[in-house]
Amino acid sequence: MPDSRKQELWIIDALQAALARDSKEGLSRQLARLLRQWIGSGRLAGDSRLPASRDLARSLGLGRNTVLDAYEQLQAEGYIATRAGSGSYVTRLFAPPAAEQPAPARGQPLGLSQRGHELFASSGLPVGLFGAFAPGVPEIRQFPHHAWQQLLSRQQRRATAEELGYRADGGLPALREALADYLQLSRGVRCRPEQIIVTQGAQQALELAARLLADPGDVAWVEEPGYVGAHAAMRGAALQLVPAPVDHDGLNPALVADPRPPKLIYTTPSHQYPSGVVMSLSRRLALLDSAQRHGAWIIEDDYDSEFRYVSQPQPALQGLAQDERVIYVGTLAKVMYPGLRVGYLVVPDALIDPFRGCNARLYREGPLPVQAALAEFFSSGLFARHVRRMRELYRQRQHCLRSALAASGAEHLALSPGEAGLHLVATLPPGRDEDALSAAAARQQVWLRPLSRHYLAAPQQRGFVLGYAGVDEAAIRHGVAVMAQVLNSKGRLEKP
Ligand SMILES: Cc1ncc(COP(=O)(O)O)c(C=O)c1O
Repeated sequence: MPDSRKQELWIIDALQAALARDSKEGLSRQLARLLRQWIGSGRLAGDSRLPASRDLARSLGLGRNTVLDAYEQLQAEGYIATRAGSGSYVTRLFAPPAAEQPAPARGQPLGLSQRGHELFASSGLPVGLFGAFAPGVPEIRQFPHHAWQQLLSRQQRRATAEELGYRADGGLPALREALADYLQLSRGVRCRPEQIIVTQGAQQALELAARLLADPGDVAWVEEPGYVGAHAAMRGAALQLVPAPVDHDGLNPALVADPRPPKLIYTTPSHQYPSGVVMSLSRRLALLDSAQRHGAWIIEDDYDSEFRYVSQPQPALQGLAQDERVIYVGTLAKVMYPGLRVGYLVVPDALIDPFRGCNARLYREGPLPVQAALAEFFSSGLFARHVRRMRELYRQRQHCLRSALAASGAEHLALSPGEAGLHLVATLPPGRDEDALSAAAARQQVWLRPLSRHYLAAPQQRGFVLGYAGVDEAAIRHGVAVMAQVLNSKGRLEKP
């Protein structure tokens, strides 16, 4: 039998199997859709002959007009064409059959740009986003959801048509005023409400700053170890990431090995992520000096300084700078909850218009009724009360984690000081296999994020980032028991 006839029989069989006779979608539309799909995917190659309409109708038990309607539709769309005296053919616009195309190699999604490949390769699909010991998650269950819902629904009802349209003013003035008051009082940030740009989370703020303040190929210093979200934002802007080692005083410009001058310096001085180091005053001054000499912008990410347990938090670096080279970034993800997606930037006067305009162009502004509800959340005192309650709760949970680890016999773990924040770092002694331990715990639904994920170069320390804020005490104790069991199982989980 000639190949073209075999192909026609294949089409008839495949349509027979695929047509859903009791579907609400008409049979002619189904025919057109199926043939369109097969042509588009290469299963039906260019130049393939379709069965004659009369044959197809008879074989499928359909009226001939049903088939003719489908063929006419496909012809109008350019998928098939009739050749005088010889029938309907798939046009030559389409690729060869799927079998002739190389199968995509595993782990290499087709069509990604070079930048897309790098971003994807370094994104490391997250392990465990909730529960013991997912880092960065606050106690969402104890958020005052009821009061918040009331504020939200009142603001939704009140919203004017203008407020529900497009805007480009950096966020609702009432929220910018509330944030400016809060940042000046609690964080020593020098700002007026106009300097605040409300974003949809710190991540968007970092991306916007990276795109607007550096060009592709420019160097960005990032803390080593550091925050992978910041790495992604910089990579997304096609910057060259250079590790800036963190020592016991914070990011140390003197330890940067790469001689190229930075255009951006990303840092978390209040509570270095993930090590937990608080940047000393002398280091803050040295960093500002270094940025000035290089003509670089500093991006200060002040993501969780509300949760400090031993003394008042150090004022923000931004407030210390004599010139205007610090871009301050904050988020409500930790103080409220991550799914809220509200963060903000504080920019110098000269950058207000570019940041407002480009934020509106690139991402659009967030929902205004939510911003109005947030302004009320601050002015009503609910925000301050929630932060106070959570600070006490997290202090207790950290204590619980420390005591459980001490009692568990989890061997030789060194814990970070934990003066602040939502996580501790537990450092492993040399020779233990971080990844194997993490995988073994994950099989029991306990998430031990390897510290090595936070390094760009060879990791200087091995261990785990342990989030405790969103985990109740029973779950902390259970997680520690699993961790101890995994850590104490000798042999298999040693590095060869
Ligand atoms: C260092 C740091 N910055 C910022 C954020 C929060 O970012 P976002 O507001 O985009 O949720 C996190 C969350 O884990 C973080 O660890």
